[in-house]
Amino acid sequence: MSLLELWRLKVGLSSGKPFDVAEDANEFAFDAILNAALGLGPDGGDVKRQIQHLTTNQARAVSHKEAIVVFSRANKSPKLSALQVEEDSLWKAFLMPWPRLYHTINHLRPSVRRARRTMQAHIATQITKNLHAPGKEPECALDYVMQRELRAAEKAGRAPVLNDPRIVNPVYGYLIAGHDTSSGTLLWLIRRLTAHPEYQSRVRACLRSTYSDAWTEKRLPTAAELARQHSPWLDATLEETLRLDSPVVNILVVAKTNTTVLGHFLPKDTPVFLNLTGASLNRPSVPVDDALRRASSSAHPAQRENWDGEDPDVFKPERWLKHEDSGRLLFDGSAGPALAFSAGNRGCFGKRLGLLKLRIAAALLVWSFEFEKVPSELVSSETYESLVTAPKECLVRLKEATA
Ligand code: HEM
Repeated sequence: MSLLELWRLKVGLSSGKPFDVAEDANEFAFDAILNAALGLGPDGGDVKRQIQHLTTNQARAVSHKEAIVVFSRANKSPKLSALQVEEDSLWKAFLMPWPRLYHTINHLRPSVRRARRTMQAHIATQITKNLHAPGKEPECALDYVMQRELRAAEKAGRAPVLNDPRIVNPVYGYLIAGHDTSSGTLLWLIRRLTAHPEYQSRVRACLRSTYSDAWTEKRLPTAAELARQHSPWLDATLEETLRLDSPVVNILVVAKTNTTVLGHFLPKDTPVFLNLTGASLNRPSVPVDDALRRASSSAHPAQRENWDGEDPDVFKPERWLKHEDSGRLLFDGSAGPALAFSAGNRGCFGKRLGLLKLRIAAALLVWSFEFEKVPSELVSSETYESLVTAPKECLVRLKEATA
């Protein structure tokens, strides 16, 4: 809702010209994951800071760079700046020949220590909140964990443990893994919707019919309505975006034992990159001699057909849709190959939460705004490379969606 409010303000000040929303998406995704993990705290989040900044400064916050409107920004919150230091450290470690040594030295840097202290102070405040309100309705993941700990401590007649690293450390994993991945996906989705007005209209029409009460009552669908009922064209468009623009392009695994993959010997401890995009996903598959497969692999044939011969590199959300016998349109998440969340033991722990947040955000944005075409000479194809790959810049030209 805050993002809608911020963009409405920007539309009012932009005289129909495009503006970049990459930073807004980044701050929105941070607010969303912080809220789910720990709660936002009394300052209300980074998007609210931008709304306040823009409301206070109005026209002074606007400048023009050729055909683009540029808005000045409030500084990021100390919490977001702290998380970005953590994200940066993690990313840089991937590029180092000795990542452990890098982390040991990096943790001594004042900026890194300051970032740790900032986040730890917020975690401690949110933990203490639970002590003062035992039995309150949990509002975030940390509340659930703390309330369990409080109950267990009471039952065992001991003091609750408030700084157990098993409680505090996963919070970082949660925030780091759920932040850039979500903002990257949202930006790729906005890019696709802008480039494909025909699909954007279908998604909007489908939203209007799925949440027809909200449309008739001239209001936004509620979070409960959006969580309860899926809108097939939205789900299909999101899935197709993840297939073509996976924000995590590959992951690294290490062979635990000597092994052979398609006839190639891999000694124990060999690092192996697994692609989450490319051949078999958004490009035709690479032919494989079945004789090279291991017996255990041949015994489990692929569960999903790939899209060789069906333009796997083309954006076609309808590949994820099917009609029931009754004629009802349904999203079919197993229609084809998808690996954006990886799979198996290492698969994404936050997939359901990530998809829910994206569905809600995308539904409200498409419901409220038309993403009009941005002149192609203004669109940059530069990507931001860190733990995730996402557009460096995402220009939008917004109009209230009235139909
Ligand atoms: C669209 C959004 C997201 C995408 C595309 C995504 C993608 C991924 C991928 C590819 C992995 C595997 C990484 C690896 O093996 O190296 C992963 C792991 C993980 N994700 Fe996500 N993720 C998303 C959202 C989230 C959210 C919102 C959370 C927060 C709850 C989250 C938490 C995690 C965690 C904790 C892991 C590590 C799992 C493990 O190693 O056991 N993710 N994610």
